Amino acid sequence: MKTLKLDAINDYENAVNIASEILVSGGIVAVPTETVYGLAASAFSDDAIRSVFTAKGRPQDNPLIVHIASTSMLGDIAKDIPEVAYECAKAFWPGPFTMVLPKGDKIADSVSGGLQTVAVRFPSEKTICDIIIKSGLPLAAPSANTSGKPSPTSASHVIDDLDGKIDAVVIGGDCAVGVESTVVSLIGESPRLLRPGAVTPQQLRKVLPNLVIDDAVLEQLKDGQTAASPGMKYKHYAPRTNAILVEGCSNSFVKFVNEKTDCAAICFEEEYYNILVPKISYGSKRDEFTLAQKVFSVLRDIDDLGVKEVYIHAPSKDGVGLAVYNRLIRACGFNVVTL
Ligand code: TXA
Ligand code: MG
Repeated sequence: MKTLKLDAINDYENAVNIASEILVSGGIVAVPTETVYGLAASAFSDDAIRSVFTAKGRPQDNPLIVHIASTSMLGDIAKDIPEVAYECAKAFWPGPFTMVLPKGDKIADSVSGGLQTVAVRFPSEKTICDIIIKSGLPLAAPSANTSGKPSPTSASHVIDDLDGKIDAVVIGGDCAVGVESTVVSLIGESPRLLRPGAVTPQQLRKVLPNLVIDDAVLEQLKDGQTAASPGMKYKHYAPRTNAILVEGCSNSFVKFVNEKTDCAAICFEEEYYNILVPKISYGSKRDEFTLAQKVFSVLRDIDDLGVKEVYIHAPSKDGVGLAVYNRLIRACGFNVVTL
């Protein structure tokens, strides 16, 4: 299959129109959002959703997020919607926030991988919202990467993974947030944080004071434990190089990596010039927004360093740092060294 490249930077309207036409006729199109690029398909079409799973090589039981372009579309996606969902929508939409609710009847079963629930998000990025409005469709869209690889934060990441496997890619700029949306389940007794993102626990608790943080956010599931969010049980974001997350202060991190051989370091800007092995900085340790923006692109660059092992300096778990830590601990297969 030839993948059409639609240039939304220089010819926005044409890109939005063609992407919408392809989606209406059952095709699949990668589109930028403020978090990461998504691989979109009509949430009403089982066939289109199946093509998304095939193109990504995604396990069938890992459900997708449905994207809408106004809170008024929520009634088409979910049912028995609790009042608190509207309070969350008011506080966090449009933006990097996803809610899990009881699934509406019109949504294709394959979207939810067999669950009776559905995840829904109203993004703030204009391109995907304009495509939703133009096509008249809610769009199911997982991240537009090959399953298991780091999520794509630029069009070139999407092309590296999916060229020839999808109908089109809408080429926009790099994603502003850089990590996927915060996912909160509103099913069950207490609201539950399933995946941390740019909307932080502190912000969530202003609307959801009894929020519970799911164990899987920071810990590996034990054998036989079922995941509240199926996506959390799979190996994720991992480079081919053996990656190890390192906790400790800057001085001890620098000393630790400088004593190693055949390794590289993913470090903070503050440490960069003191590190003697191959290295990539992912931003200042005091700026978790930049760390979030860069983390996936750095994970993609690791394999080019040509070393046996890479040591990644762990960010603080405060604010958006929790989301960065959550992605890195998965990329490292829960392999952590504390100095
Ligand atoms: O920022 C984002 O959310 C991006 C952009 C494209 O919007 N999308 C994204 O999709 O990250 P994906 O498929 O890579 O991740 C969806 C996550 C998975 O961890 C999945 O298990 C969880 O959401 N999820 C989806 N539906 C669910 C459901 N009904 N119940 C529990 N978890 C669900
Ligand atoms: Mg993903």
